[in-house]
Amino acid sequence: MKTVEIKPNIFWVGAIDWAIRDFHGYITQRGTTYNNYLIMDENITLIDTVKEDFCDVTLDNIKRITGLEKIKNIVINHIEPDHVGSIDKIMLLCPQATIYISERGKRGLDRYFDTSNWQFKIVKNGDTLSTGTYTLLFIETPMLHWPDSMVTYVKEAKLLISQDAFGQHIASSSRFDDEFVACSSQSELDDAVIDYYANILMPFGQLIKTKIAEIVKLGIEIDMIAPDHGVIWRRNPEKIMQSYLDMANGKANLSVAIIYDTMWHSTEQMTIPLMQGIKDEGVECNALKLRATPMSVAIKEFWKARGSLIGTPTVNNVMFPSIAEFLYHLGGLRPKNRIVGAFGSFGWGGGGVKEAYDMFKKIGLEIFEPGLQLQYRPKEDDKEKCYNFGRDFAKKVKEYHGVVNNQK
Ligand SMILES: Cc1cc2nc3c(=O)[nH]c(=O)nc-3n(C[C@H](O)[C@H](O)[C@H](O)COP(=O)(O)O)c2cc1C
Ligand SMILES: [Fe+2]
Ligand SMILES: [Fe+2]
Repeated sequence: MKTVEIKPNIFWVGAIDWAIRDFHGYITQRGTTYNNYLIMDENITLIDTVKEDFCDVTLDNIKRITGLEKIKNIVINHIEPDHVGSIDKIMLLCPQATIYISERGKRGLDRYFDTSNWQFKIVKNGDTLSTGTYTLLFIETPMLHWPDSMVTYVKEAKLLISQDAFGQHIASSSRFDDEFVACSSQSELDDAVIDYYANILMPFGQLIKTKIAEIVKLGIEIDMIAPDHGVIWRRNPEKIMQSYLDMANGKANLSVAIIYDTMWHSTEQMTIPLMQGIKDEGVECNALKLRATPMSVAIKEFWKARGSLIGTPTVNNVMFPSIAEFLYHLGGLRPKNRIVGAFGSFGWGGGGVKEAYDMFKKIGLEIFEPGLQLQYRPKEDDKEKCYNFGRDFAKKVKEYHGVVNNQK
């Protein structure tokens, strides 16, 4: 698509990936974009590159504005291959350019490419670079979400180029948030933000709070946030920062996600009275069968809800494999401020539900005990047990105060 001037002489020159549905295991139903930005100043500066497969798209975009040999500086905010995969090809066309990168970024880049002929300037938190009219301020954001990560603030444009932070996996002809909302919806955009946060940034809530506080303390004015994926925030960028703070503080909906799997539908049948019990407590509920749901969607739904009930049959004394995989993955994301319980059907010795609780303890989640195990198919009295279990869990979810700034 055409390049877009997002601020005077600052152009989006990125690429739209309409077709991607699996982004390193994360399901991207809406595709994504790889954004990068060209500052046409005395010293022409490219901020971030692009995934290898889209190198030609970005090169064509740049060529429409200037010759590649004229690029003086390249800022690399993050070395993940979706943002640097094409740097070697770009460096062939502008070998005179100096790369501005964090120290850990340089060390990582050396592992991906032969960088011996490239010129580097290692930058630290607070370092600046003048491109002529514009001043770039580099703010290191280590572990948000890689050790090398940083963001670049363009002072005179009040523009924060935020790298993966504040991004969303959305492929669209809209370059800006207001354009996207006008043709799609606010709720679709909000969902994409939560999806991204849950799957990529969930482990780093504390760091996010510290970093946002540090940026606020700098007293810099931000009237646009341009991430490296999805739409650019120009309508009210403070809103997306607030959303991140809320999520970092554990904000969730007053709702329950039932995340289950089943072989012969007994565990599945338990979900029906369970759900009714939850609903009768005035709490909304969403049920997902894991084998019918991509992992990243289940993670997102877990994150949206204040409470989750995990349903697993017992197989060979242990949890059903998809549930084990889900909890294993969830553990890596180090969720906080969420309450969980488990239920499921068994045949003889059982063990699946107990194992789910062992996992909850390992993850460090708030636990609702005891879980509910039933033999084979739930009978009428079992259904009542399920209903009561759901109801009691919903009561607990309503009372749960582990969450700061919680809201319905
Ligand atoms: C391959 C297989 C292995 C099983 N292993 C166990 C087991 O080790 N212990 C147990 O209590 N039940 C075991 N069961 C029985 C199931 O837990 C029982 O059928 C349960 O009702 C299944 O729930 P579902 O209908 O939700 O899949 C096994 C069932 C199958 C098909
Ligand atoms: Fe990344
Ligand atoms: Fe990325």
